[in-house]
Amino acid sequence: MNEFQGDLPRGSGESPSVPSPERIRIAVQRRGRLAKCSLDLLQSIGLDFDYHEGRLFAPCSNFPLELLFVRDDDIPQLVQDGVADLGIAGRNVVEEKGGDVECLESLGFGICSLKIAVRAGGPLATLTDLEGKRIATSHPSILFRYLKEKGLDSTVVEISGSVEITPILNVADAVCDLVSTGSTLKMNGLRPLATVLESEAVLISHPNQREGKQKEPFIERLRARLRSCLRARKMRYLMMNVRRSDWDSLKKVLPNLSSPTVVPLARPGWIAIHSAVPEKAVWNTIEELTRRGARDILSVPVDIMVP
Ligand code: PRP
Ligand code: ZN
Repeated sequence: MNEFQGDLPRGSGESPSVPSPERIRIAVQRRGRLAKCSLDLLQSIGLDFDYHEGRLFAPCSNFPLELLFVRDDDIPQLVQDGVADLGIAGRNVVEEKGGDVECLESLGFGICSLKIAVRAGGPLATLTDLEGKRIATSHPSILFRYLKEKGLDSTVVEISGSVEITPILNVADAVCDLVSTGSTLKMNGLRPLATVLESEAVLISHPNQREGKQKEPFIERLRARLRSCLRARKMRYLMMNVRRSDWDSLKKVLPNLSSPTVVPLARPGWIAIHSAVPEKAVWNTIEELTRRGARDILSVPVDIMVP
């Protein structure tokens, strides 16, 4: 099926290594924490492209879009300069690099926090203990802003990676680093003291680059698809058989229901109910439905949810 609808030219971007000026260009991380989830998300919204390790560009065959694979630190700048129309980057990178970019969507993956951490069992116990101390980070701008806001005068030691080993090397007294599972901190004898920023992957664009351009409707289509997929990822679709007489009680367990699908069954007095429920609550919901008489319950993942 050709999903290409609209008047944006397909361009000459079919060649795997030549970028096309007519296509929407989206910058994504080449390797690292967001790389795989970024590609998975773009595939889940129906975009067809070839990805090979080491490749810098990948055109889509069914949408006027091409992917640009770059270092995540460069993504905000590339978008600000209009080299890319869109980018997928961590909020931490976007905040750190500053610049004139707009966050269009929160993408629900790459969830982590930027935390200040200190030696576990060491003398530093509270934020005020950091006064006059050295804090190593690869997020100096964010840390400077945070320290200023807290009225703390600490020395920021800028380091591009392996922040967590700086206290052991006596390069710093504390670190300000990304924490996801917390295992890196633990492994290095550190414990979190304060959260500086909550982060996740975000879709960014430069507002002025997009204005009045023919790419705009395609960007809006991409955003609508992303929202439909992201909404769906949080939901499960439940199907069950219930006695018609139990329905009033069962309804109370399915509060998100705007309009349930109710199907009569061949068995007299029984109906089938279909409903989307939040994934986080799916087990509690199933258990409560069972207590209230629901039978033959099936749960399936949802790909797309268009309201
Ligand atoms: C981040 C961060 C920690 C680690 C934390 O590094 O700098 O090293 O992840 O994750 P955890 O809490 O799950 O252990 P990243 O993998 O982004 O690479 P980098 O160290 O090269 O920046
Ligand atoms: Zn790291």
